Order: sequence, then structure tokens, then C-alpha cells
Amino acid sequence: MAQGIPDEVMMNAALIRELADVAKDAALVHGILMRIQETPNSSELVTYAPFTLFPTPVPRSLFLQALAVQTHYNTLVDRVCQDVDFLQDALASTIAVDDFTARLFRIHQQVLKEGRSQSVTLGLNRSDYMLDQGEDGTPSLKQIEINTFAASFGGLSSRTPDVHRHVLKAAGRLEESQRVLDNNPAAGLARAIATAWELYGSDRAVVMFLVEETQRNIFDQRYIEYELWKRNIHTIRRRFDDVYKTGSLDQDKRLFVDGKEVAVVYFRNGYMPQNYTSEQTWEARLMMERSLAAKCPDISTHLAGTKKVQQVLARPGVLERFFPGQPEVVEQVRATFAGLYTLDMGAEGDKTVEMALASPDRFVLKPQREGGGNNIYGSEICQVLEGVKHSSERTAYILMDKIRPAPVQNYLLRRDAPLRISNCLSELGVFGVYVRKGESMVMNECVGHLLRTKSSEHEDGGVAAGVAVLDNPLLV
Ligand SMILES: Nc1ncnc2c1ncn2[C@@H]1O[C@H](COP(=O)(O)OP(=O)(O)OP(=O)(O)O)[C@@H](O)[C@H]1O
Ligand SMILES: [Mg+2]
Repeated sequence: MAQGIPDEVMMNAALIRELADVAKDAALVHGILMRIQETPNSSELVTYAPFTLFPTPVPRSLFLQALAVQTHYNTLVDRVCQDVDFLQDALASTIAVDDFTARLFRIHQQVLKEGRSQSVTLGLNRSDYMLDQGEDGTPSLKQIEINTFAASFGGLSSRTPDVHRHVLKAAGRLEESQRVLDNNPAAGLARAIATAWELYGSDRAVVMFLVEETQRNIFDQRYIEYELWKRNIHTIRRRFDDVYKTGSLDQDKRLFVDGKEVAVVYFRNGYMPQNYTSEQTWEARLMMERSLAAKCPDISTHLAGTKKVQQVLARPGVLERFFPGQPEVVEQVRATFAGLYTLDMGAEGDKTVEMALASPDRFVLKPQREGGGNNIYGSEICQVLEGVKHSSERTAYILMDKIRPAPVQNYLLRRDAPLRISNCLSELGVFGVYVRKGESMVMNECVGHLLRTKSSEHEDGGVAAGVAVLDNPLLV
């Protein structure tokens, strides 16, 4: 492994078994936790969140590139969500065939018609990348996507560096242990939420985490809650159903839930169609959108994070619209784009279909969904495209170049899984936060990172989806 963990450690079976035990205990001690089952109110059934035994080598220059571009991505998302015409044009073909996006768009239009009441915009996002191994073997940073909704693992990834340092010390690798970076996205995410809360301007008001009925990954959220409590900001956790039953807007559109005024709604649920179990869920979402509370994300920021918008942003000339007179910023952002292709009806979309059918292994076909497990790979791309290629249904998807990182060997530690060496692929996420009040950007920062690693036999991957595991970059 290039400047990573040497083979004498990687291949020493007895040492690996011992280190795995050391690592799992360290993870529990440091609070890298998940619930075992989807139990509503029980913290009794807890295990460590899955993670790698060793941190993964990442070239320093590419890591720094990802951090450096993050504030530009924050600005980009913020400008896209304020550009009503752009959003409408970009999403027009998708809305015509994708019911979920269409429904979100209707809320967006309704809020615009009434006039946005919220003056504070809060963005907490995570831009994800893989290191594409070019033909000559040189890696380059390529964005998978930017998540503007419920970007997770900022909490747990604030605790994993200590675990990897400890494992490396126990393995006798002191020098490597000193190369594991500090990381604290939880503090940065909370700082942005706190800033939005302050700008809202009421000491009595609370921050509401809008959460699922049951939540395995609850501890990840708790870390952010605790950071807010440290600042004496009161947080509550509520579901869509609670908001529907006990929520209301007063004449100034202040949001009250259970009698408490809400300054900030932080959505950790509501990004996929299955989260909207009834008309009442949609009504609750609309009520929150119409309110004076800062929403993370608000409906336009939600739409700005769709895969269709990502594809349109990669078209020639589009970044220039958002960064006028800043060619160096355009260049910096564009350098991280992988190839993205439209499936809109017309000659360009026809060409995309042809290209994908001719070599499906070079691409990923993506619908407008979040949460993992929705993307389409390999021969299944042909099956799907053959079915929709002559109809506008194809515009529900975009096509993307498949990014091919170089595999690295590691051990994935997961409860109930055998301990064995795997060929692994990693994905680097960078957390960005911004707060805008009216026209003025009050905060725009990069607040930390997340490395996730999966066995190369999986195409898709997410930690919550049970494929990827938490990791740390070891800069080389
Ligand atoms: N262009 C690509 N090349 C290679 N792998 C990809 C590509 N796009 C996505 N993947 C893999 O699929 C996973 C999910 O992709 P993506 O982030 O687009 O979907 P998602 O449903 O929005 O996931 P998430 O819930 O993590 O945001 C990625 O974490 C990555 O492992
Ligand atoms: Mg996503």
C-alpha cells in the first residue's frame, strides 16, 4: 500500500484479530454508535457504527483541493436556489415525468407566489468525491454529487480520528497515527445552525430536528444537538406527524410546534418519496416551508440538490452565469465535474442513449432520488434505457460517467461480519455551511470531512444503506 499501512501489518492475521478487538472497543468508548434495530425510544440496543480497521491513504493535494473548492460550492448552491428561472428551466423536463420532484416544485411555486417569509437561509451540505484513476494512473478529484438535504455522518466522523490513531499506535505505527487529521464537522454544523438561530432573534425559540419515526443513526444527530445545547440553544426532535398534529403558523407566519416557537427546522427526514406517507406529511412540509423559520434545507435548496440540476450545471456556459467575472472560480469548480449527460427528448438526449447502450460499463444512470440504492449500473442500464428510450419517461434520469478509483486493501469492521481483507473504494465528503440574511452572506465555510469506504464488489454505497463504512484519510 503506497505510503499507507505496510504489508507486515496488513497480512499478520494474529495482529489483525487483536487490532480488530482494540478498534471495536475504542469505537464504543469514543461513541461511534448506531442502534441495532429501528426501535423508537430505546438506546439499549446499541453497537458500533461500521468502520475500517485502518485509515485510507489519500493524496494531500487532492484532499486540499476538495476543501478549497467547498466555499465555492456553497455559493453555487445558494445562487442556484435564488435563481427562480434557472430552477424552473433546469427541472422542466424532469417535473413532467417525476411525481416526487413535481410535488416539491409545486411547494416551491406556492411559497414563491405567497412571497418567501423567511429571511435567513441556512445551508448545511456535503459534497462527495471519488478519486478517478486516469488512464495514465494519475488520480483526479471528481464529484459524485452535492447533498443539500440531511447530509449525515458529521457527528460520528467527529469522533473517528481518535479511534484510528489509537489502532495505529496499538499496531506500532506512531508516525502514521500522527498523520490522521483532526475533524469536527459536528461543531461547524452546529455553529451554522446557531448563527441562523441568533439571526432569527428570539431567545425562547427552539431548533427543531425533523426526524424519522425510528432512527438507527440517531447518535450522529445527537452530537449536533449537544453542540447546540452547549450554546444554551434548546433543541427538540419531532416527526412530520407531530408537526401536522400540533403545528401552526401565527399571523406573522411564526411556526409553533407543541406550543414552542421554532427558529430553525433542520430536516433529517423528508428527502425521499417513502418519507411522505400521507397527504398530511405533505401538508406539514408545506406549513414549515411557508413559515418564518429558517429551514435546512428550504424547498429551493432541496431542488438545487437534485441530480438534474447537477447535470445542467455541467453544461457549457452555465457556471459562468453563477460566477460572472470569476473565470478562476469557474475553472476550479468545473475541474471537479465528471461527465454528465442529458436524457431530455431531442438529438442530444438521443446521443446520450446511444452512448450508454454502446458501453454501459462506462456510466451510471441516476434517477432523482436520494438515500442510496437507486442508481443503475452495467447491463441494467441497457434494460432500463431500452424500455424508456422512445418516451419522455427517460427524462426522469441523467447519465453520468462512472468514476473509477484505485482499490486499496483494508478490513471492514461490521457487527456480525467475518474479519477478512477486502479490496476497497473510498469516497471523500466535504462538509460546507453557509448562512445568508437577506442579501448578505453572514457565514460561508468548509467545516470538515468524511471518508467512507466500501468493498469494490458494491456499485452503490452508503453507510446507512449498509454498504459503506466510516473511515479517515491518511494524507500521503
Ligand atoms: N459517477 C459515479 N461513479 C462511481 N460511483 C458512483 C457514481 N455515482 C454514484 N456512485 C456510487 O453510488 C453511491 C450513491 O450515489 P449518489 O450519491 O449519486 O446517490 P444517492 O442516492 O444520492 O446517495 P446518498 O444517499 O449517499 O446521497 C455513491 O456513494 C457511490 O458509491
Ligand atoms: Mg445524495
